[in-house]
Amino acid sequence: MDNFAGGVAVVTGAGSGIGRAIALQCAREGMQVAVADIMAGRLAALGEELKSEGVTVLVRELDVSDADAVTAFANEVLDTLGTPRLLFNNAGILQIGETWTQTSESWQKLLTINLMGVVHGLNAFVPAMLEAGEAAHIVNTGSVGSVVVAPGMAQYTASKMAVRGVTESLLYDLAAHQAPIGVSLLCPGPVLTAISDELMGIEPGDGTAPPTEHLMAGQPDFIPAEQVAAQVFDGIRAGNFWIFTHPLSKYLEDTFADIVAARNPAYREVVFDASR
Ligand SMILES: NC(=O)c1ccc[n+]([C@@H]2O[C@H](COP(=O)([O-])OP(=O)(O)OC[C@H]3O[C@@H](n4cnc5c(N)ncnc54)[C@H](O)[C@@H]3O)[C@@H](O)[C@H]2O)c1
Repeated sequence: MDNFAGGVAVVTGAGSGIGRAIALQCAREGMQVAVADIMAGRLAALGEELKSEGVTVLVRELDVSDADAVTAFANEVLDTLGTPRLLFNNAGILQIGETWTQTSESWQKLLTINLMGVVHGLNAFVPAMLEAGEAAHIVNTGSVGSVVVAPGMAQYTASKMAVRGVTESLLYDLAAHQAPIGVSLLCPGPVLTAISDELMGIEPGDGTAPPTEHLMAGQPDFIPAEQVAAQVFDGIRAGNFWIFTHPLSKYLEDTFADIVAARNPAYREVVFDASR
């Protein structure tokens, strides 16, 4: 789809990083934008920037792990702006640690945000989108962790692989309803955002400035969030399910060859395809 102007876009986790860049891109496309984030301070700066694009904006503090709150947010969006043409279930957090060291509470926190936050967004918005019967597109934010396993990342990987499962299922469920709703799984590689600030002991900012340090700062392939937003819109226009910010085909070919041959997993560094 490429009919964005005048439509409604909804972005969760919009206060910073990838969500923020997507929200701004939606406004530049002439969309009405509803943005939500758990950090109200980040939304104030974003709201002003969105309004300066001359579009209608709805700004709400929201914890996506709270199903009732997401439903209330959706009802407000539907009542005041209308049915979303673009829905971005994007809010997410990163927690790290060896597999056996993470408490049940810590697992619960991450999974209720990264996985259930996506589910809550789908439950709250998709029935109205189906009922409207109009062309629309849903982008759930996964990660390279939706297809790649790395040490020290059990919680995050589990959540993002589950988001992949939910998103692919969503694709088939909507197809079974012959719904005119496209679906994408955004799988970012390293993007310069605030996602590792808490882990690095960095005070959270207002989401406008890229962080000075990053957990994965040693990785050479960091890209700005604005580049991801452009890739996302390219992906939606092309109707692509997979939106990889950093192509991974060599890694996936090697990994799936191991699985097909029933070889034991062997951790391999992700090398993004330089040629693409
Ligand atoms: N930055 C990367 O390298 C990278 C790589 C792969 C995937 N991702 C994914 O991209 C998405 C966006 O992350 P980002 O990198 O832009 O990070 P970010 O921290 O800059 O932005 C995430 C935003 O989500 C918000 N948020 C956190 N918990 C929330 C909750 N319970 N309810 C509502 N909002 C909440 C945060 O306040 C923050 O503003 C996440 O799902 C993340 O897992 C990021």
